[in-house]
Amino acid sequence: MTTNGVQSKAGDWRNYKRVLLPPVRDLHRLEVYEAHGGYQTLRDVLTSDRWDPRTVIEEVKKSKLRGRGGAGFPTGLKWSFMPPVDDRPRFLCCNGDESEPGTFKDRQLMEFNPHQIFEGILIACYAMSVRTCYLYVRGEFARWIEHMERELEKLYARGYVGKNIMGTDFSADIVIHKGAGAYICGEESSLMESIEGKRAYPRIKPPFPAQRGLWGYPTTINNVETLANVPLILRNGGEWFASIGAPNHPGPVLYGISGHVNRPGVYEYPTGMLITDLIYEVAGGIRGGKKLKAVIPGGSSTPPLRADMIDGVTMDAESLREAGSMMGTAGLLVLDEDTDMVSWLRRVTHFYAHESCGQCTPCREGTGWLENIVTRIDEGEGRLRDLDLLLDLCDQMEGRTVCALADAAAWPVRYTILRFREEFEAKCKPSLIPSGIDVAPSAT
Ligand code: NAI
Repeated sequence: MTTNGVQSKAGDWRNYKRVLLPPVRDLHRLEVYEAHGGYQTLRDVLTSDRWDPRTVIEEVKKSKLRGRGGAGFPTGLKWSFMPPVDDRPRFLCCNGDESEPGTFKDRQLMEFNPHQIFEGILIACYAMSVRTCYLYVRGEFARWIEHMERELEKLYARGYVGKNIMGTDFSADIVIHKGAGAYICGEESSLMESIEGKRAYPRIKPPFPAQRGLWGYPTTINNVETLANVPLILRNGGEWFASIGAPNHPGPVLYGISGHVNRPGVYEYPTGMLITDLIYEVAGGIRGGKKLKAVIPGGSSTPPLRADMIDGVTMDAESLREAGSMMGTAGLLVLDEDTDMVSWLRRVTHFYAHESCGQCTPCREGTGWLENIVTRIDEGEGRLRDLDLLLDLCDQMEGRTVCALADAAAWPVRYTILRFREEFEAKCKPSLIPSGIDVAPSAT
């Protein structure tokens, strides 16, 4: 489909063949995964003269794979930050603590294709000369944790994990670590604190984890979906991967589509899909034949786009930045014309206020005030000047804290007000106080 003359960058996506979640029954079982060529790539990497740690990293760089956890940092570049091998331990953390509202794609991978994650982990360990990987999984995903633990036992028994993997001199352990039940545990430095057995307070960066990570040792943290792409890249080549979807942000991606669509779900397609194709063709259009009001393209922290802003916009970092939003986790929240954007924002602000870890004052206090003021407006008790107060609060939060949670809380507030201001104004009482005079709002 073309909108505004802009072509989808996803090519012939209707005939796309899934590679992250292929349609194979019982693929979550080792026997089935192996019967479909699973672990052949790992064997090739460990035994063929073609590969050594350096060439594996080069291939991942060539693929232009960008992290799928939300920030989109180039994976090969991140791996190359690991310092030269010395006598210190080094770690890999695979981040499966998925908790961003509107994001539910890693869960699908852990349920339907966990071995591709394990294979990616082992190749990454080899590339970075890592001996221990912690797979940190959201604690609420108990069912998938149990299942992955059972499959991991099989891998140890088979000699695919542990000492002298596949008879080579490469050894690596995988430890599944249950998440501690808080959103902040998914932030990479909190995740390391949590593994170390401490309260999950984020650390200041730099130093980045490759310099000072788990217990102060060199560490790399990659998302579950990111690592599941690695066996594909080594099997088919970096160039193959780079040719899929949007040239500057290529590869297959799991789109989680939720909200007011006829067929919500996780869909695998190339990057660079037109948002309109995802909503109207893939997810079956808006429920009840209603009109679209807004799309949040990449999880709750990414700025909402009004329906009149999405023509020709494709799902990749470049196009979404130009449109005024971000790719994030590619979890699209679709809102129809009946959505009350103030009430929607109230739910979002409640989430961030509840999940702020409380370490930094602008976030601990700011997220609470955002929720209080938006709630007050939603209940018809707000004043027009509250809108400026909210924007001012966002200014005081963004970029002023240790981690990105304050930014993630502020962006939806800022952009929902800027893009749907009339809905807020309609719920506000006229200001009784002349603008310019500051009074603290009363908590609701
Ligand atoms: P970030 O941009 O600070 O970092 C991304 C990655 O690149 C990190 O691993 C970081 O160590 C590395 N990095 C960045 N600059 C670097 C440098 N100069 N040198 C070396 N390494 C560098 O973003 P962050 O805070 O890790 O993630 C924020 C994103 O996470 C948000 O945009 C949001 O979309 C997403 N998110 C996803 C969640 C989920 O459930 N999947 C939950 C919450 C947020």
